[in-house]
Parts: sequence; structure tokens; C-alpha cells
Amino acid sequence: MPSLVNNEIEAAVKGFLIDQEKMVEVVERMTKEIKMGLAKDTHARAVIKCFVSYVQDLPTGKERGKFLALDLGGSTFRVLLVNLVSGSDVETTSKSFNFPVTLMAGSGKALFDFLAECLSEFCHHHGLENESLPLGFTFSFPLQQQGLSKGLLVAWTKGFSCEGVVGKNVVSLLQEAIDRRGDMKVNTVAILNDTVGTLMSCAFYHPNCRIGLIVGTGSNACYVEKTVNAECFEGYQTSPKPSMIINCEWGAFGDNGVLEFVRTNYDKIIDRVTPNPGKQTFEKCISGMYMGELVRLVVIDMVAKNLMFHGITSEKIQERWSFKSSFISDIESDPPGEYRFCNKVLNEIGIVGCPEPDKEALRFICEAVSSRSAKLCACGLVTIINKMNINEVVIGIDGSVYRFHPKYHDLLHFHMKKLLKPGVKFELVASEDGSGRGAALVAATAVQGKAKL
Ligand code: GLC
Repeated sequence: MPSLVNNEIEAAVKGFLIDQEKMVEVVERMTKEIKMGLAKDTHARAVIKCFVSYVQDLPTGKERGKFLALDLGGSTFRVLLVNLVSGSDVETTSKSFNFPVTLMAGSGKALFDFLAECLSEFCHHHGLENESLPLGFTFSFPLQQQGLSKGLLVAWTKGFSCEGVVGKNVVSLLQEAIDRRGDMKVNTVAILNDTVGTLMSCAFYHPNCRIGLIVGTGSNACYVEKTVNAECFEGYQTSPKPSMIINCEWGAFGDNGVLEFVRTNYDKIIDRVTPNPGKQTFEKCISGMYMGELVRLVVIDMVAKNLMFHGITSEKIQERWSFKSSFISDIESDPPGEYRFCNKVLNEIGIVGCPEPDKEALRFICEAVSSRSAKLCACGLVTIINKMNINEVVIGIDGSVYRFHPKYHDLLHFHMKKLLKPGVKFELVASEDGSGRGAALVAATAVQGKAKL
């Protein structure tokens, strides 16, 4: 079937198409950066920081008890109560709270007071205000941890920019906000990254899980490293525990310019309008916060060149961030030649009377952006698997892009297989509730502390 997509549109998205040779190059460069992050003498100037998580135990299935959890850093803010009843029985109750966008750029105090207020509301609603419950805080930003319950924020990512938090111990900020209220007995015992929660939660059911991946608002991965290689951990040579989960913070890959060969002009435009220009280069090519905006930028460029929508634009599509990444998942969910979801999206962005070749073009642009995302993620996972030097692994995955994009899982699998050494077996598993069950499991390690990886 001849392509309905105009040659000039094909040319415009060419920059998003990464061939096998480039992917191999990405793996090579990323391997170098990960090694720099891990090593003590290069850590300070490394871009992929490979932070020590202080989680050295995978779940055994014997963890028990009631835990509270907070989840900040994804598309919603949630408070959870997790009851680890038995190895197979986990009861979770949760509430999502509307997170006022103004808080993202407000003061740190306002942010933590809001978190404590939501927690208090939840505790009172469930009659927990007089119970001394341990809390696991899933805080999905780069943290320089100094223990399981101490972590300094290195930088905000994903559009946050609250003042007075960078460089501070986030656990104290939360605990002080809780204590200021004086209306509950919660004790923050652990802080963790969402990737770590995802790994733990998946490992609860899949003992071979060694990598946690998030492809959602942001993107990042963690993995199980040998403690002796985690040189930034003060006990790396003496710890009796053989393993340490490393939070890679791979979103920052490329911040030193090594990814320019896979970036497009559209990526550069987005970077300039974010609160963290020049930072999180890899993440900005991959994650849900940016994918929709990339599509929008290509589309308005094509419209301006009179190559789509008869050159007619809408107010909505001219608005920054108006094209949500979920639209990409919707559009790519239509079977070939059908445009049910596509029509719905066009309607939402105020484009009327769009001819079929334009719908094909829109889908083509979405595919270019989502395939590049999956290819880069595949490169990241292959880098980690090679670094671990293992032949079999389960990868626990969470995040809206992985969950809702109809082809992301298959794309990831396909490209990983092409890049990995023959014979390496891997399984990509959707990990349920890392920030609930995962956070409870890490909190359980903090209060019980046992079992080897
Ligand atoms: C951003 C954060 C990182 C988190 C990821 C996924 O990259 O810096 O900590 O894991 O988003 O939420």
C-alpha cells in the first residue's frame, strides 16, 4: 500500500528514527557513564549518578505488618495504607489527592504542609491517628541518600521547582511537617525512589526481579549491584550484605552532550521552556511529560509549512503542553485504516474536517516519537543487563507510558532482544503498586532488617 504520508513530513520526523548502529552507540556511551557514577573518584562529575538506595534486601515474602506510604513525583499524589497480611495477601487502601499545580513552584514548606495535611486527613478517615505507624516515603526525585531514612534532594525534575528543598534532608522536612500538626503518630522510617518501590514490589512475586523501570511522567531505572561495586556506599568493602540497589537516575544521561546525535531540534525547543534547561536530557527524549509536547511541536511546524490540516491551526494546539502523551497512546490504539480514537483526539485539540492523509500523518508522527522513546529505554535496560553480566532477569516496570501505550511493551522487547547478547533471557513484567506495596516492603526492611538478596 502506498504511504499516505507526505515525503516532507517523513523528512521532518527523520531525526527521531534511530538505527541499530546508533542504539549500539547509546549503549556504549551509557555504560561508560554508569561506571563513572558508581566509582568514588568519578562520581562527583558523573551525569548518571547511580545513587546508593541503602536497600540491600529483596523481599522474602515474610514481611508482615501495617505501613503507611506517601507517593510524590508521578502524575498523582497518593496516600496509602498497606497491610502485609501474608506472603500472598496484601491489603492496600489508598487515596489520590488533587495536587494544586501552584505547589510545584511554591515554597518547600507549603509543599510538605500539604503532604502532611493529606496524610492527616487519610489517617483520621481510617481511624489511624492514634496508631504509631511506620511510613515509607516514595519520593521520585534524585536523592543523595545517607541512610534508609535520610536523603538530600539533589535537584528537582519533572516540572517541580519548590524553593528551599534542594540540598535539604527531605525526610526531616516531611517529619517536621507531620510533627507541626501534632495530630498523628506517624514515623517516617524510609525514603525510596519509585524505581526501587517498583523493583521491590515486583520481586515480591518474581524472585528473579533485579531491575525496576519507570516510564511515566519521568523515566528512570534501578538495579541490584554488588555491594563491592557501590563505591559511594561507605560500607562497600565491609558490608556483610552482598547486594545494594542502585538508583541510576538515568534521566540525566546526555546532560554532558553525549546524546546530541539522537536529539532533534524539537527536543531543544522543549528543553528551553522547562524549569530545568540542559538537565534530564535522556528523560526529555523518553518520558510522558514530554512525548506529547514533541508531537505537538512537529505538528504545528507541519501546519505552519502548510503540510497538514490545510495550514489551518486551532487555538488549543497552539497552547504549550496541550497535546497530552495519552493522546499518543489513543491514536496508536486505532487499528490500521481506522480513526476512532484519532477523531476523538482531533476533536479535543479543536481540529475539524481533517482529511485521511493528515490523520495518517499524525499517527506517523506519534509513532516516530513513541518508537524513539522505546528504543532509548531498550538501550538503557541493555546497558544495565550487560553491566550486571547476568543471563536471566525479570524487569519490573511501571508508569503511564508503559501501561497505556498499546505497543510500548512489544517495542521494548523487540529492541532489547536485538541488542542483547544471544542467550540472555529477560522478562518484562508490569509491576503493580510499587509506591504502595514496594514502599511498605522497604519500610519493613527498615523496621525489621533481614534476609539476603
Ligand atoms: C525523574 C526522577 C526520578 C524518578 C523518575 C520517574 O527522572 O528524577 O527520581 O525515578 O523521574 O518517576
